[in-house]
Amino acid sequence: MYSNWNFKESLKDCSVLVTGGSKGIGYHSALAFAENGSKVAVLARDGKDIQEAVRLLRKTGNENIVGIQGDISNQEENKQILQKVVTAFGSVDVLVNSAGINRPKSTLEITEEDWDQILDINLKGAFFLSQEVCNQMVQQKSGKIINISSQMGHVGYYGRTAYCASKGGLELMTKAMAVELAEYNIQINTVAPTFIETSLTEEYFKDDYFKEKVINNIPLKKIGKPKDVVGAVLYLASDMSNLVTGTSLKVDGGWTAW
Ligand SMILES: NC(=O)c1ccc[n+]([C@@H]2O[C@H](COP(=O)([O-])OP(=O)(O)OC[C@H]3O[C@@H](n4cnc5c(N)ncnc54)[C@H](OP(=O)(O)O)[C@@H]3O)[C@@H](O)[C@H]2O)c1
Repeated sequence: MYSNWNFKESLKDCSVLVTGGSKGIGYHSALAFAENGSKVAVLARDGKDIQEAVRLLRKTGNENIVGIQGDISNQEENKQILQKVVTAFGSVDVLVNSAGINRPKSTLEITEEDWDQILDINLKGAFFLSQEVCNQMVQQKSGKIINISSQMGHVGYYGRTAYCASKGGLELMTKAMAVELAEYNIQINTVAPTFIETSLTEEYFKDDYFKEKVINNIPLKKIGKPKDVVGAVLYLASDMSNLVTGTSLKVDGGWTAW
């Protein structure tokens, strides 16, 4: 019954938009989709980084790769982003919302500007781009959205109040959307990683004390790599997860288990 279950087959030719696809978790997700024959659009704000990502992704031999420059915190741009993907590929089967930022600061020091920037990208931007994409998916009567949340959408941490608020919001937004859009066969889930080595965390880990503190909080005793998150993303994008919606797949080495 399962011996000819072909994971790769369900990703082949499907059209995927990855926000934050120029770097880190987004880039590695895009690479995995590209290597499995999907049509991949990568989105970020920095044009040079997008060009470089597209160049590297095409090195897989997959020519169905497009780069889109845009800012998800701008609602007008979100409409254009969707149109560009539909023009290139005809549909959007999978949206991976990986674009995100953090500005670690203590609760007593967070400014309104910090708060707005973090919430505008991590939560509001992810919502309004998803809304655009859902309007398309409703017509298709299918689609999968994978929001890259964080363990900090589930638990608090020092210097992360605005970030935790954005990811906690993303977790519950995911559940609410999943309930509402299930009738259109649209599945919406989150992947919630622990600390992962990317450009987002590069600076933090120059501090050996901080790095050790983080490792000690992770029962599996290792900081993640983008590759560790990609398996969860591919699972939620594939046919193997067809009955999964409104859930959070924690890739956190056990951080939230104790
Ligand atoms: N690394 C971790 O430890 C970790 C842990 C848990 C969750 N996460 C989450 O995982 C996601 C990816 O993180 P990462 O570590 O891969 O970060 P990263 O390496 O810093 O990459 C972030 C990506 O998002 C893009 N981006 C940021 N703001 C954007 C905007 N307004 N519009 C469009 N693109 C935007 C960036 O490109 P531009 O700057 O050019 O726009 C870049 O491509 C984030 O949502 C993050 O919160 C990360």
